[in-house]
Amino acid sequence: MIYEDLEGKKVLVTGSSSGIGSATAVLFSRQGCFVGVHYFRTKDGAEKTLEQVKKNTDGLLLYADVRDEKQVDEMVEQFARGAGGIDILINNAGSLIDRQPFETATVDYHDDVYATNVRSILLVTRSALPYLKKSKGNIVNTPVRSVCIHIGSVAGHTGGGNGSGIYAGAKAAVATETISMAGEFAPYGIRVNSVLPGFIETRFHERFSPPQRWKEIAEQTPLGRNGTAEDIAKVVLFLASEAAGFITGEYIAVNGGLYMRA
Ligand code: NAI
Repeated sequence: MIYEDLEGKKVLVTGSSSGIGSATAVLFSRQGCFVGVHYFRTKDGAEKTLEQVKKNTDGLLLYADVRDEKQVDEMVEQFARGAGGIDILINNAGSLIDRQPFETATVDYHDDVYATNVRSILLVTRSALPYLKKSKGNIVNTPVRSVCIHIGSVAGHTGGGNGSGIYAGAKAAVATETISMAGEFAPYGIRVNSVLPGFIETRFHERFSPPQRWKEIAEQTPLGRNGTAEDIAKVVLFLASEAAGFITGEYIAVNGGLYMRA
């Protein structure tokens, strides 16, 4: 265990059937958290994540299309009832969906990218908010009760590459809404931050980037490799912990130096 203050916390991780979400769910279970393992299309992946979680603590399998208000409300309610509340929310579910340049992009594609990456955060966070407000908190002498973390992207800074400009715009919205939410929720004692991954070796790039691209990006990255799901999960864990108790409205770029800024 790294962060003892996280023990017993109830953590909901969206999109935890694979990649970053799965690694995050497992890492939280190692801190003694009760974990909501959410999936959309790949139930078997979520079952595998939950199996790993159960080696450490306990959790619940949850289903929802995060674009759908009713399904999200039911999923959040099911988790809160089963866990006895929500202390930490990780909005990780998201997707590039396709590569479509602006010149030829369809309106349906545009709207789906925003529904999957931006609307989803509104729906899940709004639904979890009453529970996050009621959370008892884990930090002595500060008014912080609970934590909300969004997964953005380095693309939100760079504008993305080859056919990912619309996704980049959506992820920039995630980073900006992190700031807006942090201001709005601070009086409730809720910290809100985001993590912006660089090129992370998950199903995401298995689907959208050819092997040659994986190699090129690793070569361009100052730290000499692509990221792993665990690289991101460890930073999510830090942001959720007391060690980050005075951090809100912030994002942390985790990209091996692929994109640096002053
Ligand atoms: P992944 O494809 O393994 O995970 C994405 C997760 O989102 C899956 O569990 C999927 O089921 C879920 N999801 C997608 N659409 C959904 C929907 N409509 N309803 C419910 N769940 C849905 O890929 P990865 O890399 O683990 O992605 C996690 C997050 O990190 C995403 O938000 C992604 O945009 C972001 N990201 C990933 C990067 C990478 O290089 N892999 C870089 C920057 C950001």
